[in-house]
Formats: sequence, structure tokens, C-alpha cells
Amino acid sequence: MKLLGIDVGTGGTRAVLIDQSGRVLCSATAEHAPMSSPQIGWAEQDPQDWWRAACRAIAECLAKGGVQPGEIDAIGLTGQMHGLVLLDEQDNVLRPSIIWCDQRTGEECREITEQVGARRLIELTANPALTGFTLPKIWWVRRHEPQIWARVRSILLPKDYVRFRLTGSRAIDVADASGTLMLDVVNRRWSQPILKISQLDEQLLPKVYESPEITGRTSEEGAGATGLRAGIPVVAGAGDQAAGAVGMGIVKAGAVSATIGTSGVVFAATSKPVLEPGGRIHTFCHAIPNRWHVMGVTQGAGLSLRWFRDQFGAGKDDGRDPYDRLMDEAAKTPPGAEGLLWAPYLMGERTPHLDPDARGALVGITAQHSRAHVIRAILEGVAFSLRDSLTLFKEIGVPIESIRLGGGGARSPLWQKIQSDIYGMSVELIEAEEGGAYGAALLAGVGVGAWPSVETACETVVRVSKTVRPDPKTASLMNLQYAEYRKLYPALKGIRYKF
Ligand code: XUL
Repeated sequence: MKLLGIDVGTGGTRAVLIDQSGRVLCSATAEHAPMSSPQIGWAEQDPQDWWRAACRAIAECLAKGGVQPGEIDAIGLTGQMHGLVLLDEQDNVLRPSIIWCDQRTGEECREITEQVGARRLIELTANPALTGFTLPKIWWVRRHEPQIWARVRSILLPKDYVRFRLTGSRAIDVADASGTLMLDVVNRRWSQPILKISQLDEQLLPKVYESPEITGRTSEEGAGATGLRAGIPVVAGAGDQAAGAVGMGIVKAGAVSATIGTSGVVFAATSKPVLEPGGRIHTFCHAIPNRWHVMGVTQGAGLSLRWFRDQFGAGKDDGRDPYDRLMDEAAKTPPGAEGLLWAPYLMGERTPHLDPDARGALVGITAQHSRAHVIRAILEGVAFSLRDSLTLFKEIGVPIESIRLGGGGARSPLWQKIQSDIYGMSVELIEAEEGGAYGAALLAGVGVGAWPSVETACETVVRVSKTVRPDPKTASLMNLQYAEYRKLYPALKGIRYKF
């Protein structure tokens, strides 16, 4: 069988084709236009650009592998979560999508919390109102752009817009729907009380499916645009974090992953919904029926390093990847970056501060510090921020038996080592670390019977390729440095940036 996973990310869309042994046959990525930020803290992208990128990535993937469109047995979708796509009567996109890292909805979050009640909101949706989630964005558009809101006939999330273009069906999976603040996460269906308070007709929303369920088939139009054949089953798939976790075999309680992409996510599978009373971590449905997960999110993880690269460059161009050059530079400095600390709050912060107005900082600079120290401080600061999520997991009794690394951050041996030392645990790398697209392809396989369950799929194909162990001396130094890192946010919080 040949299974295609499509990941509609933030930076680009990736297509990955695998076979039933889990081998990657071919893959391709098409970049998106950079997100636009009409105001500080805002983040928007054009849904049609995602569709164009998906068409390019799929066509290029097939061409690279010399695969005939007729050979593909099923497709799974994944992508950036929380984004709001609004369509009119004729299914035209009404405005740019307000995406996951957009922070404009502080006021709407306060209103939702006030109208529903903080405790009741957690009872109904398992989560508090956070600026990145979809429902506050809906409230924002309704208030600030009533003329657009009046024309809305359908609401989709990013990967589900691509699904719509590919198949014509309006569908969403339970994992992605969990991040809308409209799902009854415990019972895995839209929350009627939330829709009622929000005066939202369920007709506007896509139908909710479990991740391996088939939601439709490629249409003639979708096939024409991508080079696929019509009639290929497309499963629900999952939001990027749940799909990525499936791809890394994070399916049972005790298994934890730490993924550094643009954002950074610590993810643990749970056998029931586990709530953190402060709502500082997310409690979402997993991409596996009757299973849930918790996750903590750092908004500016890989983004921190990209910001440094874009603003200050990656050093002398020797033909290598700029990130490899940055890593080599950082490796010249000792662990702890001689006291330099980085707070990665470049797009506000979710876990553990739930503060859309938090800002980043580089603290403790002396005349002796160099660029290299700054890069190391960024790598360490991001890992400290992910450790904050692990600390919360421990507080609420979520078991952590193993940690697997994912995302771009897992590719660098230096960042692997830094993470192991900072988490104070061994970390594992996976043979086929292809991100969400790989997990989405596995979900597609389960949907068409290649494996009887998601767990069996993972047992069959996910293999650990490397284990990195912490160095006890460095780990205890990192413990001390973590204690200092924890002082950053309370100290920075008093600073006013708006006058
Ligand atoms: C998860 C989250 C990010 C985005 C973008 O809650 O916001 O992982 O899905 O990758």
C-alpha cells in the first residue's frame, strides 16, 4: 500500500509518501508566503496559498518518487492548529486566516471567560480561553468586521480548508477540533452550550470525525489540481501535534515527546482526559479513539532561532545550511552560555504563563559575551521553556517514562544534547522523523485497513534510531541555570511596553 500524508504547516506544506513497512518513499515541501503581521502580535496567512503549496508539494512528491497517481491508496491530512478560515456562500475565502500564534483576542478571551464562567469553561471544553484558539477569533471577527461576519457560511481550520479543496467535504478530526474551544473534549463532539452562548449555528462548523475515519474522497477538481486520481479515500487526520505524536509512537500513557518546530510542544498521551486546574497545559483528544493527550506549548521555540538568523545572519556562507552554521558557532561556548539567559516569549507565551503580552529577553549580557553565547542561550532558553511543561506534567501526575524528540530542533546533535541535559533524562530519536505528515500517513493507513489500529501501526513502523543520555555534571549545572531562568518571567512582567 502507498499512503500519502500532507502537513499544512506554518512555513510550508509537506507531502510524504510511505509504504506499509513505514519506509518513506518520497517527500516534497512547498513554502508558504511569510505570515503577515498587520499589527504587533497579529499573524495572518492566505488559505489559498496553502492550497497552492499543497498542490505543488503533492505533484513534486509524486514526480520525485516516479509514482503514478493510481498507486496511492489513502491520504491523511495534518496541519497547523487553531487557525480560522471563513468561507462565504460560494465557498470563497472571506479574509486572511487568523492563525495559531495570533494574539489579538485578549478582550474576547476575557469576555468568553466571563460569560461562560472560568470553571464551567473547563468543564465544557477541558481548556481555558486562550488568545490563539479559534473561538475567540470568531468573536473578534464578529465584533470588528461585522460586514465580513454577515457573509460567513462555513468555518474551517487550515488543513480542513485543504481537505475541502481536495475532496469537497467539510470535516475535522477530534484532535484539531479540541483546539477550537468549541469541542466537548471529554465526549468528543461539538459543545452545544458553547455554541449556544456564542450564538453559533452548528451548520457553520465541519462534521467531527475520529482521526482514522474516512471523511471523503478526492474529487475530480482536487485530483486535477494536484495530479492525484479522483476517488482516493481521505481520512480525518489530526492537528499537527497529535499527528506528529502518532508518527513518533506517542500513543500510550508514559510516552512523552518534545517537538521543536516554529512553536515548541511537550506532549503526553493519556488514557483519560487529565486536567491542570490552572489551565496552563492543554487537554485535547488524541488522534486515537478513546485516548486523550496533554500538551504544553512554547510559542517562540524554533521561531527564536529563526528570528536570530533573520536579524543577525548565520555567519560566513560556506555553502552549508545556515542552521548548521549557527549550531557550530554555539557549540564553541560552554553549557550555560556563561550565565546568559534567553526568555523565548517572542509571540507572547502559552505554557506556563498564559500571557499573550509576554515579551522575549536576553538577560545577563557582559562585554565578554559573543554571538555564539547568544545562540547557545537561545537553544537553552527554548529547552528551559519546554522543561516548564515537564514540570507541570509532574505536578499533575502525568507519567514521563521516556522522551522522544521531534521537529527541526531534533535534527541538531547540539540541541539534542542540550535538551537531554536540561530535561535531566535520556532522549530518543526516531528513524523516520518526518513530523506530522508521517503520522497523518499512518492514520490514512489505519483508515483503509493497512493496520488494525493506530497502536499497531506505530508498533510496526516506529523505530528508535538513537538515544542521547544526559551528562550528570552538565545536567546539575542546567538545574541551577533553570532555577535562574524561572526568575525571568516574574521579573519581566512588571515592564510596560505600551504607552
Ligand atoms: C499547537 C499549536 C502549534 C500550531 C503550529 O497548539 O499552536 O503547534 O499547531 O504548529
